[in-house]
Amino acid sequence: MCGIVAYIGGKDAAPILLEGLARLEYRGYDSAGVAVTGKTGGLKLVKKKGRVADLAAAVPARFKGTVGIGHTRWATHGEPSDANSHPHLDGAERFAVVHNGIIENAEELRAKLESEGVVFASETDTEVLAHLIAAHAKETDELEDAVRGALARVVGTYGIAVLDAERPDRIVVARNGSPIVLGIGEKEMFAASDVAALVRYTRQVVHLDDGELATVRADGFSTFTQDARMTAKQPSTVDWEEASYDTAGHAHFLIKEISEQPAAVERTLSGRVDERFATAHLGGLNLDAREARAFQRVKILGCGSAYYSGELGAQLIEELARIPAHAEPASEFRYRNPVIEADTLYIAVSQSGETYDTLAAVQEIKRKGGRVLGVVNTVGSAIARECDGGVYLHAGPEISVASTKAFTSTAVAFALIALHFGRVHDLSPADGQRICAGLKALPDQIREILAQEESIAKLAGQYAQNAGMMFVGRVRGWPVAREGAQKLKEVSYVHAEAYPASELKHGPLALIGPELPTVAVVPDDELREKNLTTMGEIRARHGRVLMVGHSAPDPKYAEDCILIPKNEPELDPILLGIPLQLLAYHAAVALERDVDKPRNLAKSVTVE
Ligand code: F6R
Repeated sequence: MCGIVAYIGGKDAAPILLEGLARLEYRGYDSAGVAVTGKTGGLKLVKKKGRVADLAAAVPARFKGTVGIGHTRWATHGEPSDANSHPHLDGAERFAVVHNGIIENAEELRAKLESEGVVFASETDTEVLAHLIAAHAKETDELEDAVRGALARVVGTYGIAVLDAERPDRIVVARNGSPIVLGIGEKEMFAASDVAALVRYTRQVVHLDDGELATVRADGFSTFTQDARMTAKQPSTVDWEEASYDTAGHAHFLIKEISEQPAAVERTLSGRVDERFATAHLGGLNLDAREARAFQRVKILGCGSAYYSGELGAQLIEELARIPAHAEPASEFRYRNPVIEADTLYIAVSQSGETYDTLAAVQEIKRKGGRVLGVVNTVGSAIARECDGGVYLHAGPEISVASTKAFTSTAVAFALIALHFGRVHDLSPADGQRICAGLKALPDQIREILAQEESIAKLAGQYAQNAGMMFVGRVRGWPVAREGAQKLKEVSYVHAEAYPASELKHGPLALIGPELPTVAVVPDDELREKNLTTMGEIRARHGRVLMVGHSAPDPKYAEDCILIPKNEPELDPILLGIPLQLLAYHAAVALERDVDKPRNLAKSVTVE
């Protein structure tokens, strides 16, 4: 969604800010802006509706300053326009503010400020902050105190960066529900809402916690809380490569990330499969065998595709460990005053580690004394830090809005968790060995599926011509069908519904006809015959069927087939999802969609 970049050091700030903003373009935005200041004083500001490249073209040569802030905006309060773009200034043009998040009491604060004579230049909630900081600056010489004073009056979420023309030796940043990360350089410092904007300059980062602020100077930083208590932060090292932020010759990030899955899965598995004891090593879980045995239930929470990968996870945990496991959307869970049980293990799933609803669910569990682990891709992210332990995916940065490699790596991480829990319960060594071997076979099997891209692209071109598509699966195939429908609708805008194949007769069969084709996820397992019966019912209504599975059925059941290599039955769902990603990608390409940035969607949803 919105992006923040800030710089302070000995260099010209504007090119660094513009480069950082370009790195954040993948998150989706409609306008951008930069403000700089320096020892000569005074703020310089350029902001525009449109792309970062338009902004760069509008920045004049004399736009000099060694300290600055930049922003890409995704409109919430007020339409996309030059005036509504960030940074926002106070009336005296001393302070510049960029902001991600939503100020919920902005209307009330605006009315109060207007009654005091403040004139607003935009319709945004953010501008309120600039005027509030100016108002508090009348009572203090310290920028930090003025920012704290302003934030104390605000209800809502924010990640902010504040520039003060009268204090060009510092930037003040703050976080509450919307990420801010500091980047430590050589006699220069950076701040951003996403490490993507920093990796070109530094690998040493510090993640702010909610309720935390920082003063950032060229030679260092200090962090403190909203009530002015100093905090101690340890820098961590980002191991993601700068090259991950380029398409590297691919037409889109989405297909690049789909193609990266063999390597991503290898990294997720690396050092974790223990063939000697037929189990998985997951030191980060912070659970000894006795604790792992004590849990009676597992509850998995995530949003969107993270939730669907949690459904695959629940399935794996029940099958391998025989512990009742269930996935639920974190966005629902957090609002229903959930009963937190001492003998339930909670697991939060998130690629970004910043999804607000998932973070809020974790906080709710912890507040009520529950134990929560994270399955997270982004090291040091808010959800990762909030959890009591967990598993990092090491899938590498995911840039395309639609999740693919993180989804697959999450399913693999759950297979490891399920194997580990299984082996502290009653999974036999022989079954443990079988799963270890299956896990190790996954990367090459994914390569085999990716090799079918051309034929899947051809099918996608045909199926994309329909107004909608049905996805069905049973038990192991059901979460795969859900994720397949999610991918298709997200990137191609073709309407897609997923149903358990067993439920078709209870309603949705009424939709089936020549104009609504079905993708049937049919592994060669004990439910294959039942799935074939369902496909027969669809065919009898002249519905076209594309089957994804292991062996071709009689042609009377399916016009089209995508066949994939067989792994162990428990692990097959991990592979069945891959052709559906290719199908969605190529449908989107055929329909000339904005593949990496689907309309209305953001990569990381840091608002409610
Ligand atoms: C789907 C997609 C979203 C995310 C969801 C959770 O392709 O990308 O549904 O899966 O917003 O995001 P994370 O995993 O970052 O918590």
